[in-house]
Amino acid sequence: MSGALPVETRGLIKRYGRIVAVDGVDLVVEPGDVYGYLGPNGAGKTTSLRMLLGLIRPTAGSARLFGRDPLVQGAKALDGVAGFVEGPRFYSYLSGRSNLQMLADYDEPDSRARIEEVLEVVELRDRAKDRVGGYSHGMRQRLGIAAALLRSPRLLLLDEPTTGLDPAGMRDMRELVRRLAEDKITIMLSSHLLYEVEELCNRVAIIRKGRIVYQGALRELMAATTTSYVIRAGDPERARTVCLTQTGVENVAVEDGVVRFSADEESVAALSIALGQARIGITALTPERASLEELFLGLTGGESSDHDRAAVAS
Ligand SMILES: Nc1ncnc2c1ncn2[C@@H]1O[C@H](COP(=O)(O)OP(=O)(O)O)[C@@H](O)[C@H]1O
Ligand SMILES: [Mg+2]
Repeated sequence: MSGALPVETRGLIKRYGRIVAVDGVDLVVEPGDVYGYLGPNGAGKTTSLRMLLGLIRPTAGSARLFGRDPLVQGAKALDGVAGFVEGPRFYSYLSGRSNLQMLADYDEPDSRARIEEVLEVVELRDRAKDRVGGYSHGMRQRLGIAAALLRSPRLLLLDEPTTGLDPAGMRDMRELVRRLAEDKITIMLSSHLLYEVEELCNRVAIIRKGRIVYQGALRELMAATTTSYVIRAGDPERARTVCLTQTGVENVAVEDGVVRFSADEESVAALSIALGQARIGITALTPERASLEELFLGLTGGESSDHDRAAVAS
């Protein structure tokens, strides 16, 4: 089953009484992905990951890891898969190293030989002899990843690995995720932070109230979306006039000596040519970052009520 997808869910549903925590989720994670599972609090991220890890039983639908269903094949389905939801658990009165030793003995005694290596990867070697009770939240998260790495995973499932960390801890965690991805581990991580997913992930699923509202390459999501841009030009008024004649270029305005407008990528490309043909020199053409945040809010039912959200939320 080596060609099988790391993660494939079909119509995954989890109900708690009247609450539908996960409502018909179809996910595909491909080998080599750093896959972002993005959504606000309460959207159903943790519940989804619990089902993937075989910790809870779906109400309906199926989840497969490398083609195997934890419901059907039990622990066997988790070969090559590791991760944790809502923070890893450790014995706080034992050292980080002792915790890993216990886990190794319980899970796969051969992995004892890898303890020092995984401690090194998560940069905990010099604190490995200290009690976990004295670890910061970030150190505990990293120890959780070390524990996961003991299993030599091909797929790592991480539930909001940076949530609750201070800025330095977040940065360290992101760097660690990047390094693991370079080591050819497929990673699926949940997050409620758009910029984090944007920074780390090549593909993304956005979940809102248990339903997937977008899934695909981050790149495509951004390309298909109207973005705000700023143009700096020697003659902003003339630049504005050209903008007004371009189809697909909207909300044109001159403010503080720059031209602002919104457009999709294709229209921006056409506009840049039109400006050149009109012999209007520009010194900057810059997409505005905030718009991606807007997009996320639009997809997840935030305040934004923009026009063409439905187009990407198919
Ligand atoms: N064990 C449970 N019993 C009842 N409701 C639950 C349980 N676990 C999760 N939920 C509910 O399911 C929804 C999704 O929760 P969760 O998966 O934890 O969201 P997220 O991880 O995206 O913040 C929430 O409304 C939550 O209250
Ligand atoms: Mg959660």
